[in-house]
Amino acid sequence: MPVVLVVGAQWGDEGKGKVVDLLTEHADIVARYQGGNNAGHTVVVDGHKTILHLVPSGVLHPGKVCIIGNGVVIDPAVLITEIDELRQRGFLSQDELLKISDRAHLIMPYHRAIDLARERLRGEGRIGTTGRGIGPTYEDKMARIGIRFADFCDEAVFADVLRGIIEEKNSYLHAMLKEKALDFAAILAEYAVFRDRLARYVTDTSVYLHEALAQSKRVLLEGAQGTMLDVDHGTYPYVTSSNTVAGGACSGTGMAPNRISAVIGIAKAYTTRVGSGPFPTELLDELGAKLRQDGDEYGATTGRPRRCGWFDAVVVRTAVRLSGISGLALTKLDVLTGFKTIRICTAYEFEGRRLHDFPASAAAIRGLQPVYEEVPGWQEPLHGARSLADLPANARAYIRRLEEATGAPMIMVSVGAGRNETILLRNPFE
Ligand code: IMP
Repeated sequence: MPVVLVVGAQWGDEGKGKVVDLLTEHADIVARYQGGNNAGHTVVVDGHKTILHLVPSGVLHPGKVCIIGNGVVIDPAVLITEIDELRQRGFLSQDELLKISDRAHLIMPYHRAIDLARERLRGEGRIGTTGRGIGPTYEDKMARIGIRFADFCDEAVFADVLRGIIEEKNSYLHAMLKEKALDFAAILAEYAVFRDRLARYVTDTSVYLHEALAQSKRVLLEGAQGTMLDVDHGTYPYVTSSNTVAGGACSGTGMAPNRISAVIGIAKAYTTRVGSGPFPTELLDELGAKLRQDGDEYGATTGRPRRCGWFDAVVVRTAVRLSGISGLALTKLDVLTGFKTIRICTAYEFEGRRLHDFPASAAAIRGLQPVYEEVPGWQEPLHGARSLADLPANARAYIRRLEEATGAPMIMVSVGAGRNETILLRNPFE
């Protein structure tokens, strides 16, 4: 049965929330596989805006099962707040509709403290993390001193594991980062409350997914962040701490690669980035300000203004290669209304050479000069378009040029935040 995977093809914030929400109609189960509450997926239904950080964006379709996979790192307090808000609005009415992997790792108070203190000490060289403790939690997972939900659910085991870790964390916080030490008993008491609320959702989600597929259920896998923030393939070290590319979905859910039937890449009609790091097509002038204003480009998690620039086909082509993207969903095309001309970056110049792929070194990436192609813009608002024929000819030509430049066909074009403001060209579940 179809398993459709959705990945971000740029630096995150591509509009995955809306696309996942739309595709969920055709799915039985929606699963997140990496990241944590650094993500902020915005979904607008009936004019009501919901920002989801941990629960998959499919939750706004009643009756669908939402899974938080083993590859996700979970701040329990944030998850409980999100569950409460959703329940108040009538979603997640039954506990069976949410499943948390027993192998997912917990974000602990020292992870947040370390993340924030390190960023402060880095000064100008900061990564611009979301400060949610994501990196330090993944570090501990790899160092084999993380805490998984299976252990968290057992009060005695949790106390033992925490006791073994807290001293080392406190000496690091105090001696290296000049932060206050954390109180073992206070964490234990705080997390006992979280356990009472969350234990009911914890299960082996890999086994659950395996059995669901055997019963012909349809699964949607929801990525967070974007390809260029992937810890291996992104603009390292200005990246997040997980694998955002399609491969991450297999390890992050415990689902075999041969189960995945389609990979959909989400790309904005231009490019944005929050946080520090290279961004070759960034516009620091009034054109960038227009994109920010018309596109309401402010981070869904931190509220930070997003850096804005032209569409970078090298970035999206890289995503197509890394994730095997079989179709692209182009979002926010409506925001490009009003430009006389629009630019598309098709390659880079570096030290007199033409590059068609991202180099590895951060210094080289910083020195890249985009090679642009200029195409005519359009002045008409696009919100009412429901088919390609409704679009102005220049907007249609822009879409065709992006398909050629990225090497992937368009399956969806979004022309507004609402569910209905969408041109669906092909349903990946069919
Ligand atoms: P971290 O994931 O909080 O460690 O942040 C590392 C980098 O990834 C920073 O540049 C963040 O701004 C960026 N980042 C993390 N999550 C998102 C997201 O959901 N959208 C866009 N950027 C993100």
